[in-house]
Amino acid sequence: MQVPLIKTEVPGPKSRALLELRRKYVPKGLFEFTPVVVDRAEGPYVIDVDGNVYIDFATGIAVTNIGHVPKKVYEAVVEQASRLLHTCIHVASYESYLKLVEKLVSITPVRRPGKAYLLNSGAEAVENAVKVARYFRKAMGIITFEYAFHGRTLLTMSLTSKVYPYKYGFYAYSPGVVRLPYPYPYRCPFGSRDEEECAIIALDFLERAFKTYVSPDETAAIIFEPVAGEGGYIVPPKTFVKGLREVADKYGVILIADEIQTGFGRTGRMFAIEHFDIEADIVTAAKAMASGLPISAVIGRADVLDSIHVGGIGGTFGGNPLSAAAALATISEIEASLDHSKLVTEVMDRRLGEIYDKYDVVGDFRGLGPMKAIELVKDRGSREPWRELCDRIVREALSRGLILIKAGIYGNVIRLIPPINIDINVLEKGLDILDEAIAAALRE
Ligand SMILES: Cc1ncc(COP(=O)(O)O)c(C=O)c1O
Repeated sequence: MQVPLIKTEVPGPKSRALLELRRKYVPKGLFEFTPVVVDRAEGPYVIDVDGNVYIDFATGIAVTNIGHVPKKVYEAVVEQASRLLHTCIHVASYESYLKLVEKLVSITPVRRPGKAYLLNSGAEAVENAVKVARYFRKAMGIITFEYAFHGRTLLTMSLTSKVYPYKYGFYAYSPGVVRLPYPYPYRCPFGSRDEEECAIIALDFLERAFKTYVSPDETAAIIFEPVAGEGGYIVPPKTFVKGLREVADKYGVILIADEIQTGFGRTGRMFAIEHFDIEADIVTAAKAMASGLPISAVIGRADVLDSIHVGGIGGTFGGNPLSAAAALATISEIEASLDHSKLVTEVMDRRLGEIYDKYDVVGDFRGLGPMKAIELVKDRGSREPWRELCDRIVREALSRGLILIKAGIYGNVIRLIPPINIDINVLEKGLDILDEAIAAALRE
């Protein structure tokens, strides 16, 4: 297969016809990052209904971390489908659920002994983590951060930071939520250009919040993303993350690491907090867990999760047999791909370094492992975000056969999240297209 292969305009005639249905029946409020209408996908490729083949650096927003339709995942799903589709874990237990929670507890950096239960979406996992923390602590307060994204349900939208489009007009004001600054090294909220200093001031804000916003004993949890995903692929300084753990320990507050975007190999480790040498009290996971089948998990300290009375948590579909079987197969493939992801990281670091040296408009490139991003600015001195250029680059890349998506409060960050097991030649090809797309966008 020649890749990428763009043989029609994008969208092509068949895609345009199907998009008519979207226009007519799908509400406008759902993002439409690309006009691609997919027929099938395999590994790092997406093939549209007009026969165009794209390299996928978006992975369905950090979901297909080991590529599309991995063979072993497909086989596990088919095998499971032939035997059992549903009982509901409340009604009768089944092996894939039980083996999966055992596996999750063994691979997740949470304090021991641990337990886990399964849900359907990332937002549902975050809702549950907060609900459990509040119950355990008999406290209401939840500390969250600027640049955070935790979901679109009523509570998680309140925890989320970016006002437009996620909160605007939805009255996202759940009580008990306290938001504090997040140390964004490239745009430190305190004006510092020193990462360490930025982290220390952010931690000082946290200590002060216990005097000025909410007392520690009325605080249930601190929830944070180890890399702020939707917020712009912001990697906080290690001092900050370690400091969160220390503060949580000092006051007995539950530390929730939201690993929904960062988990399952996205950062080159199974979970991102491993890079920071901490364990959380609760980890929320979803997205890449089952290669695209819907499932999420709350993994946490057994004493915390076991504090809930019978019937207080769970749901009809959470951890359904198909998704659980897919998750078990996915996790074992991710474990087998972590070594290769180091090579992917090396190539990305080298190539993004070259791109940074070549284009002044690339103000920053950053990330953990193969979870990378570039931030576009008008000039490196002012660091003024350049959103329009970012949009043009994404468009130019797509027309050349590379799927990219954006992130960031200012919409000026491009995420680069190929499968962690991507063939290095395909990765290089995708990065060539990125380079060409930046040059083309600057000519426009
Ligand atoms: C860190 C984080 N938390 C929570 C969510 C919400 O997950 P979902 O869209 O599955 O509800 C997301 C989704 O992007 C996320 O990145």
